Amino acid sequence: MASLTTATDREDEGLTKAIPFYKDLHTKYVVQLGENTETYEYQASEHLRMSGVYWSLMAMELMNAGDLMKKEELAAWVVSTQQVDGGWGANRGHDTHLLYTTSAVQILAICGQLDKIDADKVASYVRSLQLEDGSFVGDKWMEVDTRFSYCALLTLAILKRLDRIDVKKATDFVSQCKNFDGGFGCVPGAESHAAQCFCCIAALSIGNALHHVDQDQLGWWLAERQCDSGGLNGRPEKQADVCYSWWVLSILEILGRSDWIDKEALKSFILRCQDEEGGGIGDHPGNMSDVFHTYFGIAGLCMLDFFDGKEHEFNQIHPTFALPEYVCKDLGLKAQFFQSVRYP
Ligand code: FPP
Ligand code: ZN
Repeated sequence: MASLTTATDREDEGLTKAIPFYKDLHTKYVVQLGENTETYEYQASEHLRMSGVYWSLMAMELMNAGDLMKKEELAAWVVSTQQVDGGWGANRGHDTHLLYTTSAVQILAICGQLDKIDADKVASYVRSLQLEDGSFVGDKWMEVDTRFSYCALLTLAILKRLDRIDVKKATDFVSQCKNFDGGFGCVPGAESHAAQCFCCIAALSIGNALHHVDQDQLGWWLAERQCDSGGLNGRPEKQADVCYSWWVLSILEILGRSDWIDKEALKSFILRCQDEEGGGIGDHPGNMSDVFHTYFGIAGLCMLDFFDGKEHEFNQIHPTFALPEYVCKDLGLKAQFFQSVRYP
C-alpha cells in the first residue's frame, strides 16, 4: 500500500483546502462540447458519440446542472437512432454494439424517456449476445469481455428485463475471471485490472452474486492502487489516472471498504487535475481535460463526499448502476451490497 505519510501527501492536505471546485467552468465546458460541432474534438469523437453524450449528461447531473442540457433533443436523437436489431451504434449509421446500447438506455433513463422505446426489442438484442458459457460478446465480431457482462446486466436491469438472459450463468462466468490476488480481468486468466474489477463487481452486484467476492482481499488490492500523488491507478506500476477514482471507489463502496484509502489525498489529486482556465478535468495534473475524465473525476468527488456542506448542490452517483441515485430510486433499481447503509 502507498505510504500515507510522505511529504508529498502532507503538502497535498494543504492543497485540498486551497483548490476550489470550478463548477461554473466545468458546466460551461460540458455544454460547449455539445454545441461546438465544428471543432476537431467533436468530429474526432464521432465514433463514440453515444457514450460521450452519456458522460456529458452524467457530469452535468452530478453537478445538479442537468437542466442546462437539451434532454428532450438528446432523447429524441437516441430514439431515432435505434436500429432494426434492437441495439444502438455510436451514432447514426454505425454498427450496433452492446457498449453503445447501454449508453443509449442510460441516456433515456436520465432523460426520463425510457417509455419511448420498445424494451422487449432491446432485451432480445442483448439476449442474442449471450454465449453458452454465460459470457457476453459486444457485437458480431464476437469478442468476449466482462465489460459486456456488466453492460448486459445493467441494460436489462434498467429495462426490468433481467429474466430474458441466464443471470446465473452470466455471474458464474464473471466469477471465473477472479484471480489469485482477489482482482478480476476481462476473461478467465487475464490480469487483474481495476476497471474490469468494477465491471465484474457491479455485474455480480446486479446479479445478486457477491458471494463470489473476497471482500478483504479485493479491498486490499484496490487500496494498493493509491499512489504517492494521492491518485489511483488501474494496475500495479501504472500512473495514477482520475478515471480510476470512479472504477476503484465505486467497488470500495460496494465492498464497504472506502475507508481503506486516504480520501483527502485523492480529493486533492482530482482537484489538481482541473483545468482552471478552460474547465473540465484531465486524467493527470497538467493534462488536457476531456469529458470522460471530467465525469469520472466529479463522480469520485461525489463518492468522497467532497460536496457535503459546500455551496454546490450535487446529485450522488449510484456505484453499481453508474446513474444518479435519484434516477435509480425513481426506477426502483435494486443491487446487492456488502454494506447497504448509503445505497438501500
Ligand atoms: C479502462 O480502459 C476501462 C475499462 C476496461 C472498463 C470500461 C467499462 C465500460 C465501458 C462499461 C460501461 C461503464 C459504465 C460506467 C457505464 P482503458 O483501456 O482506458 O484502460 P487503461 O487505463 O489500462 O489504458
Ligand atoms: Zn483514465
